[in-house]
Amino acid sequence: MQEQLLPFLKWAGGKRWLASNHAHLFPKIEGRLIEPFAGSAAVFFNLRPKSAILADSNARLIETYQAIRENPDRFQFHLKEFARTHSKDFYYEVRNRKFRSVTRRAAHFVYLNRVCFNGIYRENLNGIFNVPLGSKTQVLLDTDDFQAVSKLLQRAIIIHSDFEPVIDRAKAKDFLFVDPPYTTKHNLNGFVKYNQRIFSWDDQERLAASLKRANERGVSILVSNANHADVRCLYEPFLDVRSIERHTVIASRAENRGKTTEMVACNVF
Ligand SMILES: C[S@@+](CC[C@H](N)C(=O)[O-])C[C@H]1O[C@@H](n2cnc3c(N)ncnc32)[C@H](O)[C@@H]1O
Repeated sequence: MQEQLLPFLKWAGGKRWLASNHAHLFPKIEGRLIEPFAGSAAVFFNLRPKSAILADSNARLIETYQAIRENPDRFQFHLKEFARTHSKDFYYEVRNRKFRSVTRRAAHFVYLNRVCFNGIYRENLNGIFNVPLGSKTQVLLDTDDFQAVSKLLQRAIIIHSDFEPVIDRAKAKDFLFVDPPYTTKHNLNGFVKYNQRIFSWDDQERLAASLKRANERGVSILVSNANHADVRCLYEPFLDVRSIERHTVIASRAENRGKTTEMVACNVF
């Protein structure tokens, strides 16, 4: 297996930067790595644990991981087909097509992720994927190694689920990396939507309560979230809360460019 295996999806809130620039935050994993908000699974690909649970509420994302794990050759065959036929007209014609074969659906999902606007996955209220074409045209990347991805995914249980039952499965020695959508109390109007469903403040409280239970069972935990006073208050009673700097070039105000902060809360520092 090649030394460096990068996430093959571009994902809103992806944590490649955290895993590579803040390696000291991640403990040596004695049990399983559990990611209840897997997204592009940046931490899984970076840490390459012996055993893992990857879960997410996005059903298409999860079936894509399962399909690549089971049949990387067939998946790659279909992805190459999409690459050969890619054009603006083809994108709009195919973006809402439903394929019967799961490996073809997985290739369709990765195709859309690579050429749609900013790799966003968004459906309207009728479940129709409605992201316009983006500026990137490369469907196949030099870094692609789906055989290696499949081999690594064989170490993982991959589940389509809400986060709570997944966190409740964690036992002492497991390491939970928890990276929810960053909503705050002041953002209840649906700015951040995942699969038509807003991650509400109630969800943030439900998440903190499930992590409190996991902490009491002796599970190692690292949570990331917006560096907001209300969010910090959720974790300060039972975790060590810190803010970390993130270098960015996409802040809209010039004075904020290069220095946004995020919160991390942990019991393994
Ligand atoms: C910030 S992203 C995770 C990014 C990931 N750490 C990465 O490196 O790409 C949050 C993820 O939470 C998922 N999600 C949203 N609500 C959820 C819920 N109630 N239970 C589980 N997953 C959920 C979204 O589908 C999204 O993939």
